[in-house]
Amino acid sequence: MIPHAFVQDLLARVDIVEVIERYLPLKKGGVNYFACCPFHGEKSPSFSVSPSKQFYHCFGCGAHGSAIGFLMEYSGLGFVEAVKDLAEQVGMQVPEEAPGAAQERVREQSLTELMTQAARFYKEQLKRSPVAIEYLKGRGLTGEIAARYGLGYAPEGWQSLQAAFADYADPKLLECGLVIENDQGRRYDRFRERITFPILDQRGHVIGFGGRVLGKGEPKYLNSPETPLFEKGRELYGLVQARGTIRDSGTVLVVEGYMDVVALAQFGVANAVATLGTAATPHHMQKLLRVADRVVFSFDGDAAGRRAAGRALEVCLEHLADNKTVAFLFLPDDHDPDSYVRAFGADAFRQVVDHATPLADFLLAQLRQDIDLATAEGRARLVHEAKPLVTRIGAPLLRLQVIKMLADAAGFSQIEVEQACGLAAPRRSERRFDDTPPDDGFAARRFSGQASSGKPFRGERRPAVPRQPPRQRPATPVETLLKIVVQHPTWSARLPVDLLPADSAEGLALIAVTDAMSVGDLPTQGVGALLEHFRDTPHAPILARVAVANEETPFEDGTIEPLLNDTLNKLQADALSREIERLTAQDRAGGLDPQQRRRLAELLMDKQRLRVRPKVTDS
Ligand code: CTP
Ligand code: MN
Repeated sequence: MIPHAFVQDLLARVDIVEVIERYLPLKKGGVNYFACCPFHGEKSPSFSVSPSKQFYHCFGCGAHGSAIGFLMEYSGLGFVEAVKDLAEQVGMQVPEEAPGAAQERVREQSLTELMTQAARFYKEQLKRSPVAIEYLKGRGLTGEIAARYGLGYAPEGWQSLQAAFADYADPKLLECGLVIENDQGRRYDRFRERITFPILDQRGHVIGFGGRVLGKGEPKYLNSPETPLFEKGRELYGLVQARGTIRDSGTVLVVEGYMDVVALAQFGVANAVATLGTAATPHHMQKLLRVADRVVFSFDGDAAGRRAAGRALEVCLEHLADNKTVAFLFLPDDHDPDSYVRAFGADAFRQVVDHATPLADFLLAQLRQDIDLATAEGRARLVHEAKPLVTRIGAPLLRLQVIKMLADAAGFSQIEVEQACGLAAPRRSERRFDDTPPDDGFAARRFSGQASSGKPFRGERRPAVPRQPPRQRPATPVETLLKIVVQHPTWSARLPVDLLPADSAEGLALIAVTDAMSVGDLPTQGVGALLEHFRDTPHAPILARVAVANEETPFEDGTIEPLLNDTLNKLQADALSREIERLTAQDRAGGLDPQQRRRLAELLMDKQRLRVRPKVTDS
């Protein structure tokens, strides 16, 4: 564990502009610097670096963070490595880690080395095995592609790896999953008589293997177990090799199998990756939408394929953005990408990829599957079943399109569908008194980042941070306050901590920032440092979301104070209203004692006073 304080000192010492400049040509534009974003393909620069906030942010793909975050993202470094790298650049000495942590790293490093050694051994064995070479040739693979993907062969025999490692009894061989120990404590190789597909992490280190039997046999594929190096739900097979093509084409193709990736590459379709025998996870989705503007999932045309597609669909909803597209490709029965490209060629395959079913169409088709739209019940059910999915769509414009499609299909108006899905703003008559923005509430609306016109704001396109469905209502006081203190933590000194409601994640984040400021824990050198302070805490995603929203719809300095005052008034009014409501309800239900009645009268008067109080006060 690197001490918080060191990280903050380091960030105070480095300049994010200088750090990023070593990797990207930055151009000055106004107070910020710009470049073409390294994290998604683009022609015009939407990647901005703010020297005052020590924060970078891409308006196109939503990537963002501090100087440390940039190094992690760009170079695929872990947090500790990024901190060390940065410290070295400015000649700072990273304090000694706790002995446990250092050992941990050394151990991981040595596990990676073992995996690399095994991969080398398997590659050598492939050269010496005519049957294995024959098998790969039979599947149409050339030596060049086999080399590019590092394919190898785990030979027959129970302990072939003895030839690869000086100490076959090394506990680390067990830990990284290369060997298995039976009940009697006897060891043997996990992979035997199989073609090996090394699985690489972003830096190109071997972290696991897939192994396929030659010809028939069960199981057909065997994978490395989860180890300290290898977490299946995060990794994508073939990403390292596909990265360049994905960047150039803007498209990533997600297939099911190792052989699909390799065969497609053989035919010149070099932008395919595979999930590793698991359904796509949210981590996968984030990674995929980060590297490409278009993600096409390919599935076998059978029932299992459709089920898998349905799961992928659900997982990606939150991560969608209006500048990204997701589509689903269903190959004809009994074809997978490997067999398809072999049978019909690369051009035919590219064509079906281009014509893959767009997400919205697939979503509607899935929902309509077992529903009879000729009946009122069926039409009602369509919207009922759509509701949980629609509200999760993270792309506001696409969500609107889906709502319109639903309305058409189910014979409702758009507003009716929105209301059914809980997405429409409540009508004025349904609002409670204190939900109405104050008279000069333009500030709250304008800066809340939630355009009441329904127009999207740029922050909505961001796939990088898990988001909540954008709300078509004014910001709550807590949300507004959080935006203010993330932009200018010093304002938190004005917040009455006991009034801040702790009943939402935003509220808790606001309290955390306020607390940290009040005890002097929090640096004031920009939002990049603030995010680092809360890295790996439950507040991190919320603060990141707010930081990005601030980049895209920042407050103007002069408006902050009146906005803050208004918002505090409203917060106080909310607290009053809640108590009034409680007492009134009790009154109706059975009565109040004289003391409670007096309290109620006081509260009502307080509330009256709040309403007539001039808006801009300097307290
Ligand atoms: N898989 C697995 N374990 C199995 C079968 C499959 O982990 N017993 C995973 C592998 O990642 C495999 C993918 O699921 O690549 C797809 O499986 P499948 O369609 O059966 O294999 P193919 O990729 O078509 O392989 P091949 O063409 O070599 O038969
Ligand atoms: Mn296959």
